[in-house]
Amino acid sequence: MTADLSTSYLGMTFANPIVASSSPMTESMDALLALQESGIGGVVLPSLWEEQIEHEAMEMQRLYEVTADSFAESLSGYFPEYQDYATRTESYLAHLVEAKQALEIPVIASLNGTTRGGWTHYAKKIEEAGADALELNVYLIPTDPYASGRDVEKRYLDLVSAVRAEVSIPLAVKIGPYFSSLPNMARELVDAGADGLVLFNRFFQPDIDLESLEVVPRVSLSPRSALLLPLRWTGILCGQVQASFGITSGVHTAEDALKAILVGADVAMMASALLRGGADVVSTMLGEIQQWLDEHEYDSIEQMKGSMAIGSSANPDAFVRANYMKILTTYTSQVS
Ligand SMILES: Cc1cc2nc3c(=O)[nH]c(=O)nc-3n(C[C@H](O)[C@H](O)[C@H](O)COP(=O)(O)O)c2cc1C
Repeated sequence: MTADLSTSYLGMTFANPIVASSSPMTESMDALLALQESGIGGVVLPSLWEEQIEHEAMEMQRLYEVTADSFAESLSGYFPEYQDYATRTESYLAHLVEAKQALEIPVIASLNGTTRGGWTHYAKKIEEAGADALELNVYLIPTDPYASGRDVEKRYLDLVSAVRAEVSIPLAVKIGPYFSSLPNMARELVDAGADGLVLFNRFFQPDIDLESLEVVPRVSLSPRSALLLPLRWTGILCGQVQASFGITSGVHTAEDALKAILVGADVAMMASALLRGGADVVSTMLGEIQQWLDEHEYDSIEQMKGSMAIGSSANPDAFVRANYMKILTTYTSQVS
């Protein structure tokens, strides 16, 4: 008997736990169809950004004010970029509708923002356009020395409540690891309305260009070692916080996905490996996952899920301080 690869995530059933996370890989219909063809369990569309929605709303307001006394035909004269503004958010919805029509796998839309505000109404349009679920990416870099940790956490919670109030589809929240008490924050995010947590956002660090003396953005694809951070924290949160879990960052191979499931992830999400290797990576991984489960006599993904999380692990200390102490002492004795 072959093991059942299906997994429950955000209250939905996915045929398997491999999900394409939000990235240019899920931007075109061709790429989405190739991912479906390769057997992927589900997809998250690229994010629509708070700034895009707010910017468009501002431009539409300006447009309205200017055209109140003039003819609509003169629009392009005033705003050569009008077409752009008018279609950015609409084209997101059109892409979502098209993806839903063409794909049989679950399609998760993504919003990316940091403040509670009018833009969150957009979540409702996403639901109406047919998204199976919504992922809210909170990419917040606090810079104010007078804003306390609690102030920052409150911004997250307010935002999640605001988006939750707009939709009844499942809501996942994608966060970074930088909280003083991640378990507490995770629990509060769930209380604020998150059905799932996606761990972790990769914070792309800006670099300095020494010639132009400018701060420049730097997008790098992840190394495999990036998996270790979400692996630890999912292992700690699973069983303690009642939510679905998605792991993102450093999932490149079948082994990585299996580790993610063992610590309690419902899905293992991928961007870098798909951008590097294309959709074919998925079919290879699924074959290897199937083989591993069969060889290790698991009946299903659900059976193995969370079996190495802190609450189920034979060695829960490995997730916390004892691990650290052991590593450092071992290293010292090696070099002496
Ligand atoms: C080029 C690129 C674009 C991305 N765009 C988004 C985005 O629009 N929204 C989002 O939530 N994450 C975005 N991500 C982050 C990925 O979804 C993913 O969380 C991150 O890259 C870590 O996973 P990985 O190690 O598999 O790459 C992007 C990543 C890359 C590399």
